[in-house]
Amino acid sequence: MKVFYRILKCYFCSSYKLLNFFFLNILILGGGAREHAFAWKIKRSKLLTKLFIAPGNAGTAELGENIHISVNDFAAIKNVCVTHTIDMIIVGPEDPLVNGIYDFFKNEKELNKIIVIGPSHQAAKLEGSKAYAKAFMQRHNIPTAAYKEFDITNYEEGIQYINNHPLPVVLKADGLAGGKGVLICDNHIEAISEFELMIQQYKFGAAGKKVVVEEFLKGIELSVFALTDGNNFVLLPEAKDYKRIGVGDTGLNTGGMGAISPVPFAHETFMQKVVDKIIKPTIDGIQKEDLEYKGFIFFGLIKVEDEPLVIEYNCRMGDPETEVVLLRLKNDLVQLFISCWRGELHKEKIEIDQRCAATIVAVSGGYPGEYEINQSIDFGYLENPESIKTIEAEGGIMVFHAGTKKQENKIVTNGGRVLAVSALSDTIAEAIELAKNILGQIYFDGMYYRDDIGYEFAD
Ligand code: AMP
Ligand code: GLY
Repeated sequence: MKVFYRILKCYFCSSYKLLNFFFLNILILGGGAREHAFAWKIKRSKLLTKLFIAPGNAGTAELGENIHISVNDFAAIKNVCVTHTIDMIIVGPEDPLVNGIYDFFKNEKELNKIIVIGPSHQAAKLEGSKAYAKAFMQRHNIPTAAYKEFDITNYEEGIQYINNHPLPVVLKADGLAGGKGVLICDNHIEAISEFELMIQQYKFGAAGKKVVVEEFLKGIELSVFALTDGNNFVLLPEAKDYKRIGVGDTGLNTGGMGAISPVPFAHETFMQKVVDKIIKPTIDGIQKEDLEYKGFIFFGLIKVEDEPLVIEYNCRMGDPETEVVLLRLKNDLVQLFISCWRGELHKEKIEIDQRCAATIVAVSGGYPGEYEINQSIDFGYLENPESIKTIEAEGGIMVFHAGTKKQENKIVTNGGRVLAVSALSDTIAEAIELAKNILGQIYFDGMYYRDDIGYEFAD
């Protein structure tokens, strides 16, 4: 069937192209639980023909074909697209977007019909450069912390600025620094020393050549997600993630230890403020500045005395937020992507499951520091694929894989974050309980998870 439509597409006028959309080969880039969640959701789409994930993990291997290439190897991705006649690419992580994958496909004759869900290189600077994002917010009157940017040319001025800054003061490396580029300093000596390390000693390499020095905001954070076609947007369920390794939000920052959705304090009037003061001005700004943006925008927000402010933009979905957001999204995701590509998101209506979702991430011992891999994972009674299917169908539970791989017919650990056990139920407390019950079935040497995800809202 697909071939038939492809031939029509080759020989006739562009209107026949629409038919082709009903039979899509889709490639997901990335290998975390976010990408497993994408794969799970896309697999349920009526519009999918064949699913590929690069590089994927042991979980995605059950849903499509894993291809062992790097998300930043554009030449290898091109080969995969040609070989497997890929129609659509969903870009999970930020690096390929910031490195210009959208433009790479657009500018190659062989590839420019492929739908790439994600912003252009220029638009991805909203995540790739903190200074660019702050200036964008200033141009469009989007509420955010007061700031100034410094580099080697105004280094001395930066030291004076920090010395006179109220405490705590926030220092941000301008570029991508693997989640480590933000420092919250409680005294001026520490702040100046870090500032010096970034600008003079290249602590974060090129990413820290420019530093944003920012006012500290005290409040509660939440993650808000929109899918935009550059003119219109649809709002996805909001989420709250838990970044610290330790119970009670203590210890080192991680990629994310768990998430919940909905977020109880994000009530209707607050979310209306988010839309009016942040999302609409951002989309208007993208339009006014002619940025090509067909993809997700992740608004990292903080609520300060009932007012939302932007802490950061990301040009992709969050991880682990995706693992709860997609559990609650009822729409056919591929249909949303097609509307996004066509600039027709205003025709879409988002349907959200009113139940609550929680995800708890099981990590390797030692993470986010050093940890072992290749630990065999025991899934308890989930080992039986039939029982996991039944549980998933009955209870709205999904065990999303992150750092896992198959080795001699066993699933073993292959990263810091290993599994994101996600559940859907009537209350946050019940969803958390369900996820914990499933985690009780799972074991690998050194396994750790936070047992207080959603603690503020679980009563
Ligand atoms: P970012 O990489 O910009 O998201 O920053 C990482 C984390 O640092 C955020 O999730 C916040 O918890 C914290 N953070 C960043 N900027 C600020 C700020 N201006 N005030 C308070 N906390 C901040
Ligand atoms: N959970 C935060 C992020 O994906 O950046």
